[in-house]
Amino acid sequence: MITHTSYAVEPWVLRERGLHLDVLPQSESVFALSNGHVGWRGNLDEGEPHGLPGSYLNGVHELHPLPYAEAGYGYPESGQTVINVTNGKVVRLLVDDEPFDLRYGRLRSHERVLDLRAGTLTRTCEWTSPAGTTVRVRSTRLVSFTQRAIAAVAYEVEAVDGPARIVVQSELVANEQLPGHNGDPRAAMVLESPLESEEHFASSDRLRLVHRTRRSGLRVGAAADHVVSGPEPTTTQSEATDDLARLTVASALKEGERLRVEKFVSYGWSGTRSLPAISDQVDAALAAAASVGWVGLVAEQRAYLDDFWARSDVEVEGDEQIQQAVRFALFHVLQAGARAEQRAIPAKGLTGSGYDGHAFWDTEMFVLPLLTYTSPGAVAEALRWRQNTLPAARERAAQLGLRGAAFPWRTIEGSEGSAYWPAGTAAFHVNADIADAVVRYTAATGDEHFERDTGVELLVETARLWRSLGHHDQRGTFHIDGVTGPDEYSAVADDNTYTNLMARANLQAAADAVGRHPRRAEELGVGEEESAAWRDAAEAMHVPYNDDLDVHEQHAGFTRYQRWDFAATRPDQYPLLLHFPYFDLYRKQVIKQADLVLAMYTCSPCFDPEQKARNFAYYEPLTVRDSSLSACCQAVIAAETGHLSLAYDYLHEAALMDLQDLEHNTRDGLHIASLAGTWMALVAGFGGLRHHGTRVDFAPRVPEKFGRLAFTLELRDRRLRVEIDRTTATYTLLGGEPLTVHHHGAPLNLDVDKPQTLDIPPLRPRAALDQPLHRRPNNRPGKKA
Ligand code: BGC
Repeated sequence: MITHTSYAVEPWVLRERGLHLDVLPQSESVFALSNGHVGWRGNLDEGEPHGLPGSYLNGVHELHPLPYAEAGYGYPESGQTVINVTNGKVVRLLVDDEPFDLRYGRLRSHERVLDLRAGTLTRTCEWTSPAGTTVRVRSTRLVSFTQRAIAAVAYEVEAVDGPARIVVQSELVANEQLPGHNGDPRAAMVLESPLESEEHFASSDRLRLVHRTRRSGLRVGAAADHVVSGPEPTTTQSEATDDLARLTVASALKEGERLRVEKFVSYGWSGTRSLPAISDQVDAALAAAASVGWVGLVAEQRAYLDDFWARSDVEVEGDEQIQQAVRFALFHVLQAGARAEQRAIPAKGLTGSGYDGHAFWDTEMFVLPLLTYTSPGAVAEALRWRQNTLPAARERAAQLGLRGAAFPWRTIEGSEGSAYWPAGTAAFHVNADIADAVVRYTAATGDEHFERDTGVELLVETARLWRSLGHHDQRGTFHIDGVTGPDEYSAVADDNTYTNLMARANLQAAADAVGRHPRRAEELGVGEEESAAWRDAAEAMHVPYNDDLDVHEQHAGFTRYQRWDFAATRPDQYPLLLHFPYFDLYRKQVIKQADLVLAMYTCSPCFDPEQKARNFAYYEPLTVRDSSLSACCQAVIAAETGHLSLAYDYLHEAALMDLQDLEHNTRDGLHIASLAGTWMALVAGFGGLRHHGTRVDFAPRVPEKFGRLAFTLELRDRRLRVEIDRTTATYTLLGGEPLTVHHHGAPLNLDVDKPQTLDIPPLRPRAALDQPLHRRPNNRPGKKA
C-alpha cells in the first residue's frame, strides 16, 4: 500500500517527488501511458529496477489450457492471457564505467510528472555514480492519441560537474523476464517467453523485431527509429538478435553538454497478415511519426487533449484532492478507451496484466457511461467490438442450450474465459449490461446508423437469450432462475432483481428497436410473434419484494438468509473471498458489491424515493465493498437518498482507489471501473444525472465542503454545462438546438447561451447508516470520526 504521500496534490499533474522503490510497482500502473491500442507501464527508462515490466497491445494474448480437477459440460477449455509484448521503452545508460542504476550511487533528485493536459510522462533526475560522476537525465515519454501505433521517448543526458563518457543503449526487448506470481488469483498468469522470433533487423538508426505467439498465432511487430544529437564525435551502432534490437550511442560530454536521443517506436499486430506485411506496417507507422517529428507528436497530443478536456473536464472547488483525482480518472479512462477501436476495454485498461487483461461488464456499466457523454465515438467502437464477437457469443448460447447470444463474463477475444461458472457464465447480466450501453449511447447521440447496423443486432440477440433463459410460471409471471447478479457473494440464485430489471429493459428495448427498424428485424429473422413474446416477458417480469421488511430482495429469498457474522470477522479477513469458503458466503446475507443498490441507479424509475431510501438502509450494513466497483454505486444512491456525507466518503474511496492503493493491488494495473466511478459519483451522485429514454434528469446537491461542482456533457450534438454550488444550479446550453432537461423533477427548457439558474430544494435529513464492522469508509481527510 502507498502509505506515504508520494503524490503532490496539484490540479493538472500527478507529481512524484523522490523515487519510492517500495511502491515502484504501484507507481508503474499510476504512470502508465496508453491510447487504448498500445500501453506502456510507467517503468523506469533503464528497465531496472522494476515491479512489473509491461508493454501491451490491445488484443494480443496467448492461450493456455484451463485445468479442471472435475470436468463438466460446457467448461471453457482454453484461457486467454494478455502478454507482455516487445518492450520499446528501454533506454539504458552507461556513465563512464557505471550503469545508471538508481540502486547504486547517489540519487540527488528524482521527479516524475504525469501531465494530464500534455499527455506526457516526464522524469528528471540527478545522479552521482559510485565513481563520482554526476549526470542529469531528463526523459519525456508519450503514447500518441493521434497516431495509434506510435509511442515515443525523448531522452537527454547532461554532464553536470565535469566531463562524462556516456553510452546510451536504446532497445527493443522481447520475452523480458517477468517477476513470479504473487499468489493472488486475480493477478495475471505469468507466461514464460510467449513470443517466437520471426525476424530481427537493425540498420543505422532503425530497429525491428517481429515475433509470433506460440498458441494464439498472433504476429507482433515492433520497430524503432531514432534522432540523435550530441557533441562531435557522437557515434552510433546498431545490432539485432532474435529477442533484442539495439542502437548504441556513444559520446564524450564536457561539463554542461548534452546528448539527446529521440526514440520513435511503432507497433503492429495481426492474426492474418504476413511477415512482410507486418514489417511494412510498422515501418510505415514510423514514417508517419517521422513526418511530424517529436515536436509534432507533442503538439498533436496537446491538441487532442485540449479538445478532450473542453468537453469532459469536471471542476471541483473546495476539495483539491478530488479535483486532481477526477482528472486523473478521466485521463486514464480516456487512455483505456480512446483508440481501442473495435477491441475490448479491459478492466485494467492497458496498465497492467491483472485479471489476465480481460474485459468484463465493467466496460459497459462503468466505463461506457462516462465515455457516452464525453467521447461518444469510443462507445460506438467498443460496442462494435461486442458485435464482432457475436459469432462466439451465439456459439456459447447454443452450447448452453439457449437462444440468441451469451456474451462472456471475461474475455479478450470474445470467447468465455472464466473457469469458475458460478461467478462466470452464470453472471448473465453482462448481456443486459451490453444492451443498456447500446440504449444509453443511442439515446445520448441519436446515432441512427449505429442503431441500425449494430444496436439492433445486439439488442435482438440478447433479448433472445433472456426469453430462452427465463420462463413463465403457471400464473404467467416471468422468472429468471439460477443466475448470478453483480454481487459475487451470492451465486446461482433465482430472480436476481438487478438482472431481472435489466433484462426487462433489454427485452423492451429490443422490441422497440425492431419496431423502428423493420428491415433489419426481417434480416435478423424477428417476426411479430417473437417481439410480442419479449414484451410479454418484460411485462410479466418478477421483481422479488419482502412485504414484511418492505424492501426489495437482492434475489428471491435473500432476506431470509442468515446474516454474516460481521462481529466475528477480523479486519484482516477482508476481502472475504480470500479467507472464507464461497459456499458459506453464498448462503449468508453478505454483499461483496452494490447489486440491488446498483439496480436503483441503472433502473431508477422502477423504484420510488421511499423504496430507495429503505432499500439503501437495508443493504448498506451488509455491503463489505470487497470489489472496487462498489463504492461509486453506493455514492450515487447515498447522494440520491440524502446521505450526502456518506456519498462524499464513497466518492473519496472510488477516487483514491489507485492513488492510495486502497485494495493493495494497484501494482497489477489500475481499477478502470472505479476511476470511471469517480465521474459517476460526481455527475450521477452529486449532479443527480439520470437518463432514461428521452428524459434527462438532474437532482444536484453537493456536500458542504464543495464550493462548486461543474461538468460538461455531450448530448445529441449539444454541449451542456452544469454548475452547482450549495444553493443553486446553473444550466447552460453551449451549442445546438434547444433542449429540455429536468431539475429536481421540474422541466427546464434551455436555449443556446442562455444560462438558467435554479434553487436547490432543501435536503430532508436522514438518520446515519451503519456499515459492516471494520468496513466504514474512513479515509477522507478532515472527516470527523
Ligand atoms: C468484481 C466484478 C468485476 C471484476 C473485474 C470483480 O472483483 O466482483 O464485478 O467485473 O472484479 O473488475
